[in-house]
Amino acid sequence: MTIDELSQIEALAAEIAELSRTFEGSSQHFMVDGPPCLKKSEELVALIQSPAEHATSLIAKTMETAVIRTLLSLNVLQTIPTPGYISLQDLAAATETQPYLLERLLRVVTRSGFIIRENEAYCHTHTSLAYAGPLGGLFTPCYDEGIRALIRLPEYLSVKSKEEAKSAMHSPFTWNEGQEGKTTFEILSKMPARTKGIHTLSMNVQHLRPYAGFFDFNELVSKDPERPVFVDVGGGNGHVIKEILQAFPRIRPEQCVLEDRAETIELARTTGLLPAGVQLLEHDYLTRQPISNAKAYHLRAVAYNLGDAELVQLLKQIVPVMGPDSKVLIAENILFSDNGTTFSTVSDMIMLCIGGKERTERNFREVLDEAGLTIDSIHRASGLEFGIVEASLKMP
Ligand SMILES: C[S@@+](CC[C@H](N)C(=O)[O-])C[C@H]1O[C@@H](n2cnc3c(N)ncnc32)[C@H](O)[C@@H]1O
Repeated sequence: MTIDELSQIEALAAEIAELSRTFEGSSQHFMVDGPPCLKKSEELVALIQSPAEHATSLIAKTMETAVIRTLLSLNVLQTIPTPGYISLQDLAAATETQPYLLERLLRVVTRSGFIIRENEAYCHTHTSLAYAGPLGGLFTPCYDEGIRALIRLPEYLSVKSKEEAKSAMHSPFTWNEGQEGKTTFEILSKMPARTKGIHTLSMNVQHLRPYAGFFDFNELVSKDPERPVFVDVGGGNGHVIKEILQAFPRIRPEQCVLEDRAETIELARTTGLLPAGVQLLEHDYLTRQPISNAKAYHLRAVAYNLGDAELVQLLKQIVPVMGPDSKVLIAENILFSDNGTTFSTVSDMIMLCIGGKERTERNFREVLDEAGLTIDSIHRASGLEFGIVEASLKMP
């Protein structure tokens, strides 16, 4: 190690010591980048680690990820008592797992300190205990819908033609599921437990996708009481319209439309989230938009599910029914031009697997332009990558 590298290590260690004096605890939110002293500690590890140690730790971590997912599916984490210890034999019996297999899996997580083994018995750490609870419900869909297919990406790319790899119906996800030719949503609609997992995950990253506070939806209020004001395309179970109407009560529910696939519309009918008066419409967003001349067509967390060609196709279904002052509002992460956050990077890799994409401002400009739209403004939520891309018809 050179003198330069040693002094860099010393400087970073001093910075961490300084930051730890004002450290007030780690974030309890999922997918939020940690506090500065954690970031600096990671930089320190990167400086100290040799390339061989880096590769070793990466391989061990990847294996630990699969092991933790397995321990959740075997109900092992959920069976370890709190507080207290459980022997291998009792844990194996309670989870109907072979003791020899269980011991090998648990060795991976006791080595890392995720679980503690003492006197031939196992007990939780505060981290493994969190996985046994709601955190496991967030980790599992990231693993099932992202990591599982991503791990096979080199193999996928070696067997797919370039054209096939561009289509969402031949995405790493559909290929890995053995269901090419269908859309991700068609496949997931037959898997209620996994759909529920994705829904739980999406509700738990809402702090990174605020509903209000950065765009004035009051601008949409129309003097014409008959005019549709807010069409929520792929609007989900109704939580978005509910929050927006709550924050902007001048918008009348009767002038709002929730559009989605049949099963989601059914969900929206039963959850009771939607204010009375909102119209519900079964609609495939890749077909002609049925509501003409709305003040705004709103797409929240929809564009990132789609590749460029599909997003252009979706927008081209809206353009012909827009009035001269209609807006398309795309509420999404708009990637920072420098390094991405953990959230958008993880999200982009999951989207890569299902044929979607997180986008930069330039990426949005390109797809909107191809669809016949132009960006009027970008409204970012303070300190977040999330925001609204406000677009209107391109003037001839
Ligand atoms: C990630 S969710 C976003 C839901 C909601 N906009 C939100 O912000 O929470 C994507 C939505 O697109 C809907 N969707 C998927 N394919 C669709 C299609 N072909 N036509 C209409 N909606 C579709 C899904 O049912 C789902 O509700």
